[in-house]
Amino acid sequence: MTFKDREIQELQEVGLKEIRAAANPEVLEGLRVKYLGRKGALTQILRSLGQMDPQARRRLGQEANTVKQTLEEALAQALAAIKEAARRAAGPVLDVTLPGRRHPRGRLHPLTQVNREVCDIFLHLGFETVEGPEVELDYYNFEALNIPADHPARDMQDTFYFNDRVLLRTHTSPMQIRVMEKRQPPVRVIAPGRVYRRDSDLTHTPMFHQVEGLLVDKGVTFADLKGVLTAFLHEMFGPEVGVRFRPSYFPFTEPSAEVDIECVICRGEGCRVCKVTGWLEVLGSGMVHPAVFEAVGYDPEVYNGFAFGLGIERIAMLKYGIDDIRLFFENDLRFLRQF
Ligand code: PHE
Repeated sequence: MTFKDREIQELQEVGLKEIRAAANPEVLEGLRVKYLGRKGALTQILRSLGQMDPQARRRLGQEANTVKQTLEEALAQALAAIKEAARRAAGPVLDVTLPGRRHPRGRLHPLTQVNREVCDIFLHLGFETVEGPEVELDYYNFEALNIPADHPARDMQDTFYFNDRVLLRTHTSPMQIRVMEKRQPPVRVIAPGRVYRRDSDLTHTPMFHQVEGLLVDKGVTFADLKGVLTAFLHEMFGPEVGVRFRPSYFPFTEPSAEVDIECVICRGEGCRVCKVTGWLEVLGSGMVHPAVFEAVGYDPEVYNGFAFGLGIERIAMLKYGIDDIRLFFENDLRFLRQF
């Protein structure tokens, strides 16, 4: 091994050591210039071969080229390693210019929306909202409301009973009694809430929602009932919709009336929804029966009032043209998203 051979070997050893120790790309670039640059150590050696005999020149030339390749590879590797380490140190790649991920937004159930709308309208008419139990006593649900023991509504067919005295309320009317037991007139309340009946088809579910209304004062007349309910229905369905009061019967009101609006589908022309009558029933109502006042200790000679009850599902179905009540309870997002 000649002096030149050793020089080339040493150059590779020292070069590799320095390259592996380099901490940043700038140092590496310095080393590249130092060893492989135009005035670099290896270039100097290659130049110095010019004066040698052809055989030694070829051998040493090959050797020098191998070293050059080795150093070039080591440089490239070291640079890649430094970059990778820097990338890792910087943590996960975060592109702050990407649009944010949208969270699906919830909304109020259509029945909640309609319920709030109804309550808001009565709030503006001067009514206060009260709430009461869904598990109710027979006394409040029937007895105090002048519903006799042989009334069909008391039948096991219609009512969910826990025992002889306790049941799931079949309407919100028991709230009339609960309110009047606690307060003296004037009374102006509405009572929204769930009610239960053994019933299930396209327009009936075993649980549904009602809003009860009660107004008691001196000198209240049927005209007040008509005025308040007409104002409510015009607010709810539009001022142009026709409203009709039809004689009816409830044990706890006398006289009683069911209230119809002009069919919202056919505008009174007659269609499938209104069964060709042009009218849709939306409310039960009437003047509070004297027997009900007596049950709560109000003097029927001094006070009178009116009461009404409406079904939220029914109002919502008419308002939105929904023909199957079960859609409200299936929680299919494709349905719920439309409100
Ligand atoms: N409670 C009756 C029903 O559920 C509705 C009603 C309420 C009628 C108040 C008159 C007065 O059908």
